[in-house]
Amino acid sequence: MEIENANQARLQDLDKRNEQAMQGGGTARVAKHKEGGRLTARERLDVLLDPGSFVEMDRFVTHRCVNFEMDKQVVPGDGVVTGYGRVNGKLVYVASQDFTVIGGSMSRTQANKICKVMDLALKNGAPVICLNDSGGARIQEGIESLGGYADIFTRNVLASGVVPQITAILGPCAGGAVYSPSITDFVFMVKETSYMFVTGPDVIKTVTHEDITKEELGGAATHSQKSGVAHFATEDDKHCLLMIRELLNFLPANNLDDAPILPTEDKPDRIVEALNKIIPDNPKKPYDMLNVVTECVDEGYFLEVHKYYAQNIIVGFARFNGRPVGIVANQPNVLAGCLNIEASRKAARFIRFCDSFNIPIVSFVDVPGFLPGKDQEWNGIITHGAKLLYAYAEATVPKITVITRKAYGGAYIVMGSKLLRSDVNLAYPSAEIAVMGAEGAVNIVFREQIKKAKDPVAEKAKLIADYEKKFSNPYVSAELGYTDEVIEPAMTRKRIIDSLEMLKHKRDITPPKKHGNIPL
Ligand code: HXC
Repeated sequence: MEIENANQARLQDLDKRNEQAMQGGGTARVAKHKEGGRLTARERLDVLLDPGSFVEMDRFVTHRCVNFEMDKQVVPGDGVVTGYGRVNGKLVYVASQDFTVIGGSMSRTQANKICKVMDLALKNGAPVICLNDSGGARIQEGIESLGGYADIFTRNVLASGVVPQITAILGPCAGGAVYSPSITDFVFMVKETSYMFVTGPDVIKTVTHEDITKEELGGAATHSQKSGVAHFATEDDKHCLLMIRELLNFLPANNLDDAPILPTEDKPDRIVEALNKIIPDNPKKPYDMLNVVTECVDEGYFLEVHKYYAQNIIVGFARFNGRPVGIVANQPNVLAGCLNIEASRKAARFIRFCDSFNIPIVSFVDVPGFLPGKDQEWNGIITHGAKLLYAYAEATVPKITVITRKAYGGAYIVMGSKLLRSDVNLAYPSAEIAVMGAEGAVNIVFREQIKKAKDPVAEKAKLIADYEKKFSNPYVSAELGYTDEVIEPAMTRKRIIDSLEMLKHKRDITPPKKHGNIPL
């Protein structure tokens, strides 16, 4: 009887402790936190993970700081809920910061908890997902909390390219709370409730006397459109967490795993008649490359990454006959599809992600060249454009390129051309694969001849027509073997699937080295 009572008492004690840990920063702070429609740290994990799959670790860990009476502010778990669970049945490791506990600020012990799951993720080859909601380094702990951040950053770097790392920003994230996300592969933000900045509006006001709101400085719109720090801007916490689940569907667990193949009802040999009419007769007229992509891929489903940033290039995930691919496509609707600094950086990082994680790259090309201009040159288009070139040339995953229309000059080489170790290059009959557009070429090569002609306008028009006939087509490239096949656009889906099947066991090597020196 006595033993039974003792056991009972121990269980009651455990229940009490668990109950206390569940309360986070207490009823009042939780209520305040939820005012703006935000979910708690634990509710977020409920949405992210398969029901009942979450296993918590370190629930009773507490901080050890005694400065500024911190010993009176001790909450079990210390402001972060960590552990592991499943997303669509697949293992993931998670850390979800609790803003109601000392503003989710990073203490030494909080960092230790996050590092523990990151270490497990790396050893066991599964993605890490961090849900950040934190005022940055815990000010009362001083340099100890900085040490904690440094430990996390180091692990982010070591895990980069080994396991997918995803961060959601779900509140005001300042200081150290923003560096770890930017090392991870994908950053999600929530419109109107999440912010990222190294220094907040108050510090800016003091130092530079500028007035700026949190939203303008580092809200989801700013980071998904202007800075490109965020890959996804979502409507609310729930939408954000469901989008992460969506993204994970395309990703392998680690760099030695294959991306998951899902069954599809969409026939691999589906003829896409609509593509025969998609390229306008007038080569100067824009069209929406997104339509080309969605017409070809399984069930028309395309998960666009960086949708609002550098819209002159499209990147994202889709499937062909169930197999995940990374899509990179010029967008003639924006800046005529030119490559600029932002587009080069956006696509280069995406390609490197795909290459790290065995995801084939399918490129759709309609590019008149690099964007000319003083701003571009002064801000380093040479270096940034080279990033894209480097990423394509370095990638050893299957690479398939479809040229729909323009492919001129350096931009032609860069955009997954055969000359950068690409595997299959296809072109539509409307493709123009040349050093530059006819008018530009004629202006340079025949300047004198045009000047001396009796009728310079007619002479120029004739020379342009000659150049177009000679070069503005896919056949010169096809004769040289730079293009493998000129295809009827309706056959695009079938040919891409044939190519992916043919390249399924591709092996390619890069000379052994510590790492390359990508032009950063
Ligand atoms: C300790 C903190 C904290 C922090 C917030 N809190 N941030 N405690 N350290 N860094 C506490 C607050 O005191 C408050 O406690 C509770 O969390 C909620 O914060 P509020 O300010 O009431 O919330 P809100 O008005 O929503 O403002 C959120 C915020 C603001 C914008 C994040 O709290 C803020 O500016 N915090 C400081 C940001 C910052 O400068 N961090 C240090 C960065 S330095 P009570 O008890 O009142 O509820 C850094 C260096 C690392 O991170 C560099 C590594 C490379």
